[in-house]
Amino acid sequence: MKGLIPAAGKGTRLEPITLAIPKELLMVGDKAVIEHVIEAMKIVGIDEIAIVVGWRKHAILDYLGSGERIGVRLTYVVQDRRSGLARAVASGEHVIGNGSFLVVLGDNFFYPKTFLRDIIDFHNKVGADATIGVAEVDDPTRHGMIKPGENNRIVDIIEKPSNEETPSNLGCMGVYVFEPIIFDAIKRTKPGLNNEYQLTDSIKILIEDGCKVFYRKIEGKHIDVGTIEDFKKANRFFSTL
Ligand code: G1P
Repeated sequence: MKGLIPAAGKGTRLEPITLAIPKELLMVGDKAVIEHVIEAMKIVGIDEIAIVVGWRKHAILDYLGSGERIGVRLTYVVQDRRSGLARAVASGEHVIGNGSFLVVLGDNFFYPKTFLRDIIDFHNKVGADATIGVAEVDDPTRHGMIKPGENNRIVDIIEKPSNEETPSNLGCMGVYVFEPIIFDAIKRTKPGLNNEYQLTDSIKILIEDGCKVFYRKIEGKHIDVGTIEDFKKANRFFSTL
């Protein structure tokens, strides 16, 4: 299985820090948040990883290099226009090839680092087309939110709904296992929330097509390092380890 890490976003909510560096390079404890993600992939045997870069891309190349320092092989893909997460994933299609692949957002901190084992095993066991990592969240307006069905099936999914609209309290954690069929769904995805191509909408297309789309709860700590407050929270948590 190969890995793909979207790391092209502008990080507007983290300005002014992100005027100079991309949010994936924010330090959580002793290393950048994206390096924690890469290490988690390495633990489950994923050592061929595509990094999708865009905003302040040179800094990411300077920091990660070939991946040799971390013990992985990195390939960089450039997303020229910031048009949404679905397009970021699609831009890695030629590197991913024909196999299953794992997507973890490069600005999310997880603990413990072994959190990927369970979702990959589940995906393979049930023969899913897509398995989405979720957890209970307080604020649906910050996440893709799912409507859970029987036996871990996802019945519906919606990007950042209001408190009134949300179909449950289970939100996407930025961890996805996909079969290459997702690329076909992305090609048929229309601009959604904020006029961006939302990965959530591509997953909804898979569901509508009758594909096997499942959720799996991610245990442990998860912090989306998307705001200054969350960045501080991640570092406070790290200092307790
Ligand atoms: C993205 C996804 C969203 C997901 C979230 C997890 O949003 O669009 O569905 O729940 O990551 O962190 P972003 O945080 O990039 O706005």
